[in-house]
Amino acid sequence: MALPKINPTTTKAWKKLQEHFHDIENVHMKDLFAIDAQRAEDFTIAWEDFYVDYSKNRITKETKKLLLDLAKEVKLDEAIKSYFSGDIINETEQRAVLHTALRAQKSDKVYVNDINVIPEVFEVKEKIKDFSHSIISGARKGATGRAFTDIVNIGIGGSDLGPAMVVDSLQFYKNHLNTHFVSNVDGDHVNEVIKKLNPETTLFVIVSKTFTTQETLTNANTIRDWFLKSFEKETIAKHFVAVSTNIEKVQDFGIEKDNIFPMWDWVGGRFSLWSAVGLTISLSVGFENFDKLLSGANAMDRHFKNAPLDSNIPVVLGLLTVWYNNFFKAESEAVIPYSQYLNQFATYLQQGIMESNGKSIDRNGNRVNYQTGTIIWGEPGTNSQHAFFQLIHQGTKLIPADFIGFAESLYGNKDHQDKLISNFIAQTEALMNGKTKEEATTELQSSNLSEAGVEKLLPYKVFEGNKPTNTIFIKKLTPESLGKIIAMYEHKIFVQGIIWNIFSFDQFGVELGKQLANSILQDIKNNTIANHDASTANLLNFYKNKA
Ligand code: F6P
Repeated sequence: MALPKINPTTTKAWKKLQEHFHDIENVHMKDLFAIDAQRAEDFTIAWEDFYVDYSKNRITKETKKLLLDLAKEVKLDEAIKSYFSGDIINETEQRAVLHTALRAQKSDKVYVNDINVIPEVFEVKEKIKDFSHSIISGARKGATGRAFTDIVNIGIGGSDLGPAMVVDSLQFYKNHLNTHFVSNVDGDHVNEVIKKLNPETTLFVIVSKTFTTQETLTNANTIRDWFLKSFEKETIAKHFVAVSTNIEKVQDFGIEKDNIFPMWDWVGGRFSLWSAVGLTISLSVGFENFDKLLSGANAMDRHFKNAPLDSNIPVVLGLLTVWYNNFFKAESEAVIPYSQYLNQFATYLQQGIMESNGKSIDRNGNRVNYQTGTIIWGEPGTNSQHAFFQLIHQGTKLIPADFIGFAESLYGNKDHQDKLISNFIAQTEALMNGKTKEEATTELQSSNLSEAGVEKLLPYKVFEGNKPTNTIFIKKLTPESLGKIIAMYEHKIFVQGIIWNIFSFDQFGVELGKQLANSILQDIKNNTIANHDASTANLLNFYKNKA
């Protein structure tokens, strides 16, 4: 079944939300807590090892009801069914969207063109497992008979960001292999990586769904040339493997059929870390941990598919984003993990969220007359508190934020953990409460300032508060809980795309960049400056004269 194609602004719920927004835009969350002792409980979802508190949002029960009505009117429940059952919901590319099948259980059945894809998924998982074991144990060796010590993942976008983020996030669970990622076509990137490597003990994993991506092929060729300075062509089979849907092109590159890990066109690049694209994850933390990551994601899939909309984590988070984006006109959202392990998480989410929902044509082919995709950004707390929190607390912009924290630290250092978590909790409280004029006055009066001094400083010391946050509190960072977090955001993206009536699973905007760079490259290579505007021509000239 195709996705519903309903302009959200034509629904009854949207109109009611617009009226309701005027009642609520100046209400302070502090007052909402004061009049409702049940608020925190009512706006919390406790699920498995997750405790999701969304009570510090500028909402009432009425807001939640109207947002859920909106979800119903745009037929979110039907859309969720289509998403999980292999329907061609990526209409513009005529594909199913089935990253959820990659983490399904063996007994599940998911059909694409009447064929159950689960046996094939498990066949590839077996191949990932055997290969990972042979490399980690040292049974499979390089050309000179030495075991591998280093793995280099060569890919970009979804073929890099997901694996790189997961490997970094799960470094506590890592084995002895050193993992490196080469993504940028900037030759300095690949050279900085190469200089740390011994070709004798390095395995290269080329990841490209299409195997046509300029950056990845350029890096792969540079690495192959470097490798062939030490070894004969025949040894490529021992040191290079690839993950791709384009078997022919991979073979043309010189990689043997046995060393190719297939993937499918029903897996989008930015949702592909669960497939063989995650091979570097499996090599780095072992297949068993990779499989746990998948089980965590599968648990979140089942929650999203089966939980009622009003207690469904991705649904509630997605609706809150719509509330701020379309009614409060907030332009961006921050994601602040209180864990250094999740250092790369916001960067990873930027592709997932902005490549999916950065669209302006609706599912009927018309330009939307409302805002869609949010800008996403963030850094780990507490570092970010000392960087951009000033703007969230006292700036002019409304920036809803997700705070992600883990109750247990992995090394068990209680003093650090208590301090980390007190910051985690204190910030959301402060963002909500702010500091009133009276509180600020009392505070200033207790210092040595004169009355005039107090008066002068006062406006700068007041915090309006009323800044919305979601607290996603999780027991511990494990492969399973990380899988749940990632899947939670994947489904949140889906919910928003459905409400906004856009196609979330194509990326024509990014593909344009690929074409444009190629045409400029021709000019640079041929030393011509054809058909460009004056600014572009000048830039080409500057490059020609300086390079
Ligand atoms: O950046 C655009 C994009 O198409 C992404 O969606 C994808 O993750 C990336 O390029 C890499 O593509 P490939 O895996 O085909 O090399």
